[in-house]
Amino acid sequence: MKTYDLTGRTAIITGASRGIGLAAAASLADLGANVVLTSRHQEAADAAAASIGGTALGVAAHSVDESAAQACVDTTLDHFGSIDILVNNAGTNPAFGPVVDQDHSRFAKTMDVNLWAPVLWTGLVWRAWMQEHGGTVINTASVGGLAAGPDLGVYHVSKAGLIHVTKQLALELAPRVRVNAIAPGVVRTRLAEALWKEHEEQVASVTPLGRIGEPADVGAAVGFLAGDGASWITGETLVIDGGQLLAPSTGG
Ligand SMILES: NC(=O)c1ccc[n+]([C@@H]2O[C@H](COP(=O)([O-])OP(=O)(O)OC[C@H]3O[C@@H](n4cnc5c(N)ncnc54)[C@H](OP(=O)(O)O)[C@@H]3O)[C@@H](O)[C@H]2O)c1
Repeated sequence: MKTYDLTGRTAIITGASRGIGLAAAASLADLGANVVLTSRHQEAADAAAASIGGTALGVAAHSVDESAAQACVDTTLDHFGSIDILVNNAGTNPAFGPVVDQDHSRFAKTMDVNLWAPVLWTGLVWRAWMQEHGGTVINTASVGGLAAGPDLGVYHVSKAGLIHVTKQLALELAPRVRVNAIAPGVVRTRLAEALWKEHEEQVASVTPLGRIGEPADVGAAVGFLAGDGASWITGETLVIDGGQLLAPSTGG
């Protein structure tokens, strides 16, 4: 049984110009899926799609811009005829420091991109395809959404909310659509540079598996959750962190 084969299926991955989103798109494409990669910038989306090759397509769409999101859904259906997999991956973290010191604009931006956009895109894809034909949704949360920690409180609240939204959507969209989340620890990407760039060895030393994460570590998990091998898994959050949650706090 080829439980990982995604031949003939189509995936949209938001925030896929680099990092975890690009690795998720590469993993899904390796398994046979057509992939549509979004970025806020068309050139970046095109470059990411070109790096994957094959049928990969880049589409510019700020993740909270509803008309751009709808246009991406329409373009995907025009090009490939289905949307079987949605990876809500675009994320941001403009707020650093104690929660009580944040202003409304940073709080709202974090919640808009990290929490509202996954709801928006899931609704659009549900109405356009998955309600009738089924599919699967994967939300990129964080280990930071599973426990309170210093400095990134607003971001952590948004990811905790996303983990709950994942459960809520899994309940509401079953049985046709499975909805799961991934919760990466510290992964070598631009967004997380403050967590590893100046002290990678220290983070690795408190990570049971002895290194920080690479985007491909997370991409592989997305490939698993998207496929039929995960067909009885919904509402779950898969931690991908080299054991960091088992050890003293490293962020995320
Ligand atoms: N790296 C980690 O340690 C870690 C740990 C836990 C969770 N995460 C989560 O993983 C996800 C991906 O982050 P990353 O670490 O891979 O960071 P990254 O390499 O900096 O990539 C972030 C991606 O999100 C896109 N993006 C940002 N804001 C967007 C918006 N409003 N609309 C559309 N796209 C947007 C960026 O595209 P453009 O700039 O081209 O628009 C880029 O493709 C995020 O949800 C993040 O919270 C990361």
